[in-house]
Amino acid sequence: MSRDTLDFTTSLAVDSRMAWYDIVGSIAHARMLGRKRILPQGDVDVIQTGLRELLDALEDGELVLNDGLEDVHSNIEAALTGRIGEAGGRLHTARSRNDQVATDFRMYVRELLLEICSYLIELQKALLAQAKTNLDTVLPGFTHTQHAQPVTLAHHLLAHAHRFGRDVERLIESYARINICPLGSAALAGTTYDIDREYVAKALGFEAPCENSMDGVSDRDFAAEMCFDCALAMVHLSSLCEEIVLWSSPEFGFVEVDDKYSTGSSIMPQKKNPDVAELVRARSAGAVADAASMLTLLRSLPLTYNRDLQEDKGIVFHSADTLASCLDITVRMVATLSFDAAKMLAATRKGYLNATELADYLVSKGMPFRVAHEVTGQIVRHAIGRGKGIEELGLKELRRFSKLIQEDVYPALTVESCISRRDSYGGTSKKAVRLQMTNLKRHIGEQERRVANMRTSLHQAFDALLSS
Ligand code: ARG
Repeated sequence: MSRDTLDFTTSLAVDSRMAWYDIVGSIAHARMLGRKRILPQGDVDVIQTGLRELLDALEDGELVLNDGLEDVHSNIEAALTGRIGEAGGRLHTARSRNDQVATDFRMYVRELLLEICSYLIELQKALLAQAKTNLDTVLPGFTHTQHAQPVTLAHHLLAHAHRFGRDVERLIESYARINICPLGSAALAGTTYDIDREYVAKALGFEAPCENSMDGVSDRDFAAEMCFDCALAMVHLSSLCEEIVLWSSPEFGFVEVDDKYSTGSSIMPQKKNPDVAELVRARSAGAVADAASMLTLLRSLPLTYNRDLQEDKGIVFHSADTLASCLDITVRMVATLSFDAAKMLAATRKGYLNATELADYLVSKGMPFRVAHEVTGQIVRHAIGRGKGIEELGLKELRRFSKLIQEDVYPALTVESCISRRDSYGGTSKKAVRLQMTNLKRHIGEQERRVANMRTSLHQAFDALLSS
């Protein structure tokens, strides 16, 4: 291979971050070769000692990778052989880089996934904490970015939290498909050696070995799924940040981003810009593009391994890194947001937010909803003409539109009544939101335990492998 071909084809810059998993995967493979007497135990011992030394060197930051070798796998193997000589050359028995890279990649993606779940859980907690202190804060709920009906800020913030809760659920479901071990698929067709794939899979914390060796070396569904999961979480994050940008504008004035997460202008001294939120919004574009790239990469590939698959890692890493860094800062930005309850309340006075209330009132007096909708529309038009809110119209004035309207209409038209009467399950009343908070808190706790258990079972597998 010429140097320029090597420079063109190398993946070391991207895959070197999987070095730890490559070494650990090799330890499991070597141990299996010994147990199955495919290699003499003497060689296996030497290989294992060498690999353990490489692991130590890596953890101490002393493992130097050679850019004259095309990827992390050839680097580790060469470093091992450099240390222990001929026995190192026996490690690659009954495997290929095709099943090796797929295994390393899955192990690495597992870790990224768990890290992201933890951030998503933190973000839900931050939103829940803000919701707790804003149970009585009232603002207009929007549809079409127009004032629709009053809601509590707690209810609004929890709506965001639920999105991130589903992101965690989705990642946990993806994890089950990621956590399948391709090692032992060899190049594509399996191997002539009497290997124990079950043992290797368990030793590396996987649920099971894959069923089909050709699928094993080519399946990147897990990578595409990871990209999609990250992209959707980024879309959710971007939507939240879009609101922070809008709400911190003077036109809304609903929220102030803490100084720590704002920037100034180089020319306008009075400016305080929500750059963090804007950049999260912008970086979601990259994560969405990663999901598209991943699918596009895969769509044109015949079975089985093709070198195109080398490009999968950069895409997934970019996607996961983007999400992790955006989540990390957004958690802190959300925790330090300060909301302007007076501004929000004032906004509920605009836009006839209590129109639905009036229609419901007429229904309660026996009018069919469709007719009530029509009558209320006429009253709103009348009120707009007078430059008044519905509640500011006199009883006589109101009764011109319907004789069903009586003095008891006024209490029904207050913001408090709009909120407290929406007491249906999942609704915006204080009681319903309290119940929602209790349930969400429980869900977050459950997610936390599941993620911790997933982490623990990986640690246990690795501890068992590395301590013996
Ligand atoms: N660097 C390669 C990748 O990431 C490893 C597998 C190479 N296999 C091969 N047959 N060239 O895909």
